[in-house]
Amino acid sequence: MTIHVRAPGRVNLIGDHTDYTGGMVLPMAIDRWTEIRGIPAESVSLHSADEAEPAEIALDIDDPQHVEPHWARYVAGVVAEMQPYGGIAGTVSTDIPIGAGLSSSAALELAVALALGFDGDPLSLAQLCRRAEIRASGVPCGIMDQLVIAAGVEGHALLIDCGDVTIEPVRIPDDVEVVVQFVAHRALVGSAYAQRVAECAEAEEAIGPLRSATLTDTLSITDPAIRARAQHVVSENRRVHDFAAAIAAGDLGAAGALMVASHNSLRDLYLTSTPVMDAAVEQLSAKAGVYGARMTGGGFGGCIVALTEPGALADGWVVRAVDGAHRVG
Ligand code: GLA
Repeated sequence: MTIHVRAPGRVNLIGDHTDYTGGMVLPMAIDRWTEIRGIPAESVSLHSADEAEPAEIALDIDDPQHVEPHWARYVAGVVAEMQPYGGIAGTVSTDIPIGAGLSSSAALELAVALALGFDGDPLSLAQLCRRAEIRASGVPCGIMDQLVIAAGVEGHALLIDCGDVTIEPVRIPDDVEVVVQFVAHRALVGSAYAQRVAECAEAEEAIGPLRSATLTDTLSITDPAIRARAQHVVSENRRVHDFAAAIAAGDLGAAGALMVASHNSLRDLYLTSTPVMDAAVEQLSAKAGVYGARMTGGGFGGCIVALTEPGALADGWVVRAVDGAHRVG
């Protein structure tokens, strides 16, 4: 019996740093995949063409955070969370750029879970893999990446309410392209990310859940840094709704302007951008045929995503929205 599964990467069109306070996001699964092929075995043994050392994980692993090599921690996280009856011996291959902000780690987690026989709905798969990511990396991430990779719908982005975890597919119009450009490798992601999560928790202690707060509510937060973080989250949740409505109405100019506003909020209020990312977004947004652009994902580097007229950009990858992770054949 052979095992063959694949899990796509993702790009987030709008709604960053909102998922871990139960806010709104609008990502799509993209046509780049991590695949695992193998045969059943008594432990997990995976080789990757992109890595010098294999992942060799015993089924009773319980401390994924100290596993070596580093990439094997994500495999170990899934094994630790899933506690599967059997393992796999095989290979991992991917055309998702690794560590570029397109969720290569989440794709690996979902592929491992499916390869180990995960049997459940996309939400349970995403929740398991989110726990695996937190356990493997120590980064208190939200549900966005794992959920869009589990539940992706061809031709659609997913409007996800991360509070009640409802998903509404939003069709990407035929007359636009979603273009991704890699700008810079990420730096300092883990600790700064955890700090933002803690700052949002502090804001919520002051004014209650950010998912239902208004900008007026945020004015009563006395610490200016915490107030700024809350203002990003509250305004970003609004922008996600407005973006989905603009796309549905075919108002691509409005959608693009919301992407730029989202980037500026990450830059000025959430402080997760860098001068290099800002310059790239500014340059791209000014090009003919580009409706808007923004940094996508956790920040401090990574990729920018642009919404453009077809053929407007010669550089970067035009990405298509695809179905979520699945067994092949
Ligand atoms: C990372 C996390 C997600 C999300 C984004 C920012 O990708 O894994 O849960 O918080 O950052 O939107």
